[in-house]
Amino acid sequence: KILILDFGSQYTQLIARRVRESSVYCELHPYDVSPEFIRDFKPQGIILSGGPSSVYEEETPRAPDVVFDLGVPVLGICYGMQTMAAQLGGTVENASHREFGYAEVRAQGHSALLRDIQDRGNEEGHGLLDVWMSHGDKVTALPAGFKVICSNAATPIAGMADEARHFYGVQFHPEVTHTLQGKALFERFVHDICGCGYDWNMPDYVEEAIGRIRSEVGSDEVILGLSGGVDSSVVAALLHRAIGTQLTCVFVDNGLLRLNEAEQVMKTFADNLGVKVIHVDASGEFMKHLTGVIDPEQKRKIIGREFVEVFQRESAKLPNAKWLAQGTIYPDVIESAGAKNNKAHAIKSHHNVGGLPETLHLKLLEPLRELFKDEVRELGIALGLPHDMVYRHPFPGPGLGVRILGEVKFEYAELLRRADAIFIEELRASGWYEKTSQAFAVFLPVKSVGVMGDGRTYDYVVALRAVQTQDFMTAHWAELPYTLLGKVSNRIINEVRGINRVVYDISGKPPATIEWE
Ligand code: XMP
Repeated sequence: KILILDFGSQYTQLIARRVRESSVYCELHPYDVSPEFIRDFKPQGIILSGGPSSVYEEETPRAPDVVFDLGVPVLGICYGMQTMAAQLGGTVENASHREFGYAEVRAQGHSALLRDIQDRGNEEGHGLLDVWMSHGDKVTALPAGFKVICSNAATPIAGMADEARHFYGVQFHPEVTHTLQGKALFERFVHDICGCGYDWNMPDYVEEAIGRIRSEVGSDEVILGLSGGVDSSVVAALLHRAIGTQLTCVFVDNGLLRLNEAEQVMKTFADNLGVKVIHVDASGEFMKHLTGVIDPEQKRKIIGREFVEVFQRESAKLPNAKWLAQGTIYPDVIESAGAKNNKAHAIKSHHNVGGLPETLHLKLLEPLRELFKDEVRELGIALGLPHDMVYRHPFPGPGLGVRILGEVKFEYAELLRRADAIFIEELRASGWYEKTSQAFAVFLPVKSVGVMGDGRTYDYVVALRAVQTQDFMTAHWAELPYTLLGKVSNRIINEVRGINRVVYDISGKPPATIEWE
């Protein structure tokens, strides 16, 4: 297994993804983890990530010395290469001009890392590589024992190696897809240089996870809040496979779900898989508490508080339950150097804790803690969940509560559910669902004038929102074809009585957010 030390680069998670894609288990930890931890981890290789600092400035991060004393291969990427060079006796300086984006480097010296890896060759077997660069500093003098393994005019030391100690550094970013041979480079490092086997794969993982869950839980009972979202659905399927009827799911219908959602969840889990699911229709209760409330944050608070209340009431009926299962995934867990000061990270992990465990006195079971989102999806497929459920767009906890602007009313929710279902149906039919990251309809409680047949209408407006994004922190509005938008608009106005106007949201994030509230 591989240990990745994070120096705060925005690409660090991609390094972990590439390593796992090579069928090798890895973990990501902050660069300043204790030397004991690194020793006890027993890595077969260590990767030092990039990061925003400059090694020649004071008090910037360094790799713990143990990294270079363990006798295992080390790969430094960008800042990781620079700190390796500086720590082992080389020199790093500010580059006279920054190199950002596409670059070409020429391999040299037939290193164990780059040998025969190339996009284009030449007679001496020194291939050219298309790579992605993003740096203002560069290594200007090699530490003792190192040689140059690739270079270009702007960065004469674009890669370095001490083959005897198996230390490697690359200035470019092999973890981003723009570096075409990045995958090959990681496979070379983890398999050939570190000697890792191919032992991280989904079918084996399922068996291992089941074994772990069984030994952890024993004969105890487990409760899970099932929302119908990807993570809780995969947890439900996995726990059901592991402990069968010791699992009870609580599905809370808050009246703010999408069209037929409750039926679908019950059908998939209770009917098809035979999972024990308690279906609580609490929509009346939620609506009652939302009456007269227009402030978005207050709506969020009320919906969250009601959920906790309903969930507690239901779990009190299961006095034998000792565990609370949650769909926490690896990106929620990673405390990376970059995320320490990242507010968004804090907001997100807060969602997942939700105040439940403290008040319930249950032990926490988080079987997806070590998986990335796409691995969670892969696991869902391996467990037999329907493709459409596993590849669903995210849906916020407060649901339609933040997609009905201002006061939430049952009548508005009904109209919005139907409009939203038409939009999603047409996106799926046209192949655009997979090309967008999140899409939905928003209900605007304003009336505008229209004409239908010979009559005048005075009805509500629906806005369509579709975005493309990698991380939901920034997003582009999706350039959906006009014909598709026209068809959706037509269908909504014709099929949903009470709506006579449809508009399309063309705001990016920032400055707008993805949700309207
Ligand atoms: P914004 O609107 O902030 O949304 O651009 C970014 C992502 O977060 C989701 N979101 C939420 N998810 N509870 C959630 O569980 C919330 O209160 C919440 N607010 C926004 C949103 O759907 C998008 O994917």
